[in-house]
Amino acid sequence: MNQPKVVVTRRIPLQAMELIRPHATIFLWDKEEEPIPQNVLLQEARDAVAIYTNVADKIDREIIEAAPQLKVVSTMAVGYDNIDIAAATARGIAVGHTPGVLTETTADLTFALLMATARRVAEGHDFVKAGKWASWAPMLLTGQDIYGATIGIIGLGRIGEAVARRAAGFGMNILYYNRNPRPEVEAELGARYVELEALLRQSDYVVLLAPGGGGTYRLMGAREFGLMKPNAIFINTSRGTNVDETALYDALKNGSIWAAGLDVFDVEPVPLHHPLLSLPNVTVLPHIGSASIATRTRMAVMAAQNLVAGLMDEVLPHVVNPQVYEK
Ligand code: DGY
Repeated sequence: MNQPKVVVTRRIPLQAMELIRPHATIFLWDKEEEPIPQNVLLQEARDAVAIYTNVADKIDREIIEAAPQLKVVSTMAVGYDNIDIAAATARGIAVGHTPGVLTETTADLTFALLMATARRVAEGHDFVKAGKWASWAPMLLTGQDIYGATIGIIGLGRIGEAVARRAAGFGMNILYYNRNPRPEVEAELGARYVELEALLRQSDYVVLLAPGGGGTYRLMGAREFGLMKPNAIFINTSRGTNVDETALYDALKNGSIWAAGLDVFDVEPVPLHHPLLSLPNVTVLPHIGSASIATRTRMAVMAAQNLVAGLMDEVLPHVVNPQVYEK
């Protein structure tokens, strides 16, 4: 019997491949860091029953419409703003993702980036390696305090809550803005719900953790950066599309905010000539929020489990669009 075809758009951990292999004929884009070209994906999707994807791919309407047999799209990520969910749902295609397993790892990285930006860790590292360290100096590479400062978390989902827990451990005052207030987090961590404008005005650290997509597109623009304090630090480990990067550049350049730590960009990889990369008060990372060995392996396995469930016409353990099961 012919096995259904599965397109795997990147080399993934062996454990995940082993879960898929017994159920499918696999087309693997066998590259570690190079994304599958869109035309290859389009071509390979034509007779595919399932696609195993990641945040670097675009599973748009064109791909979905080109794949008449497609039953399941499984992404090795919690975020799915790179997938046209409406188009998939209209076709009855289940979309799977990996919530929960990356929460603590991403919160760790968010806090690491916050601390690195506040205390100028990357600048200090470069300074020493460039042979510029002449002497201890009273004001050399002085940064901002974390203990006792106010953190404002935009988006208090799982990861936001895990960041709040870390902030509480560091003796920070915690503000948050979210679709819905979270009284249980307020009771546990002393966090306080405020409207976005108040959060921006009062926070020393503004941490963006809202999901990507239409509803949060350019959530942070010139007006929002303009409301922040001049000593404030902006951290983004959510999606680059949530930020107007030109407005962020202007705010950093003219000193209306103090620094930024960015793990995500509007266009990834961020082009080397991007103005933000020219600023000393920007600390950057290559979208590695969830990148611990254990977590990435768990994500890969979870995405494989979602995919195999879809192949077997079972309900995906972690489905983005449960409406596909309503009929
Ligand atoms: C996600 O899971 O959405 C991250 O951005 C990739 O780890």
